Amino acid sequence: MISDFKEIQSQIKSRFPQLNQDIFGNPRIYLNNGGGTLCVDSAAQAMKEGLQKYNPQPGEVDPAETATLKLHQRVRKLIADFINAPQPEEISFHLSTTHALFNLAFSFRSFWSSKNNLVVTDLDHMANVSPWETLADEIGCEVRRARVHPEGCLDGNHLLSLVDENTALVALTLSSNYSGSIVPVKDLISQIHSQSSSLVCVDAVHHAAHGVIDVQDMDCDFLAFSGYKVFGPMMGVLWGKKDLLEKISPYRVETNRDQSPWKFEQGTLHHAVIASMEKALEYLLELKEKLNPEGETSRRDSFVQVMKDIQNYEEELSKYLLQELQELEGKGFYCHGITNPRRVKERDPTFSFEIEGMSPEKIKRRLWNDHSIQIGSGNHYSAAVYRHLGKKSICRASFAHYDNQETADLFLKALEELLA
Ligand SMILES: Cc1ncc(COP(=O)(O)O)c(C=O)c1O
Repeated sequence: MISDFKEIQSQIKSRFPQLNQDIFGNPRIYLNNGGGTLCVDSAAQAMKEGLQKYNPQPGEVDPAETATLKLHQRVRKLIADFINAPQPEEISFHLSTTHALFNLAFSFRSFWSSKNNLVVTDLDHMANVSPWETLADEIGCEVRRARVHPEGCLDGNHLLSLVDENTALVALTLSSNYSGSIVPVKDLISQIHSQSSSLVCVDAVHHAAHGVIDVQDMDCDFLAFSGYKVFGPMMGVLWGKKDLLEKISPYRVETNRDQSPWKFEQGTLHHAVIASMEKALEYLLELKEKLNPEGETSRRDSFVQVMKDIQNYEEELSKYLLQELQELEGKGFYCHGITNPRRVKERDPTFSFEIEGMSPEKIKRRLWNDHSIQIGSGNHYSAAVYRHLGKKSICRASFAHYDNQETADLFLKALEELLA
């Protein structure tokens, strides 16, 4: 039986009014969190208010411009605590993670040459592949691709075999948006560093809603995540080690400050979006207070606590789902990724699946039309789907902490009906 944050489940759900209904107010079960989590009510409200509250330009004189300046400072600090960054000036705001990583890759164009190589993985989202491939094309260097195991995990040994003294950068994901597999990034980075001086860029987009992020503990050089995958607005966040950020050269107009983080931010920022991001992360802190009200903790410790609680809860949910999904194997249902319920610690609650004889688009449509269940279908911009599986499309049902056994049962029942 799943211990589903029971006492506070209704409070959690009340913060996501779109959880149980579509845009016309009809019933819906939202299982496309891999495509984007729902936005928490306070983050949506902050976006609305922010458009009138904040000044186009931050400054130090009138109240609107000082409010804008303070907002930026506050949110950089808050995000620094969320990912355990040593300094808020290492955090820059972007349109999206894709945008941030293209800008980051561009920043290295005059630092590396055709003698170098870059290592990407076939498990990553294309946002952490294409920018590096584009850069490699530009400077004429080799791109090496780490393989995916048949069960949808990164082949770490293969990745390490690709790294040599000429490797300039390894691009890795914390977890796969296709199979939910968690990559043992900390161990891999320590081995990468022991055999080369390569930099490491981590995509935390998929994992951000499901577990703790600690850039110092994993010792990566850059990390990006997106607000809309962590209960907030569409925006990208980039973190990098300060000394590296200061050295490299992103797109920059001459008059923009040539200093981190400002030099990474092009044009006027979306202040309302940043205000919304603040509320999304504060929601996690509020959740921590509800789950563990005892004791004074630092903000960083609170983030760690709540993300551990979410991870534990989602592991129980994944375990339950995997046990039940096993019953469907052999009836034409096939689940990708790690399917052994005893290995839930190695995955996020993201389940890609196929049904024999039915296209992913048909499955998606039937689930919606007959059961009001919203899943994802397509390649999900995932290199694993596109390259490793060589498929144009695959179904994906992805859960978050506001789901529970009831949601899982509705999904399982709908699958059974589809298979019947
Ligand atoms: C794992 C992963 N990385 C990167 C991205 C790209 O994020 P954005 O849409 O903010 O560019 C996504 C978006 O789906 C993703 O799932």
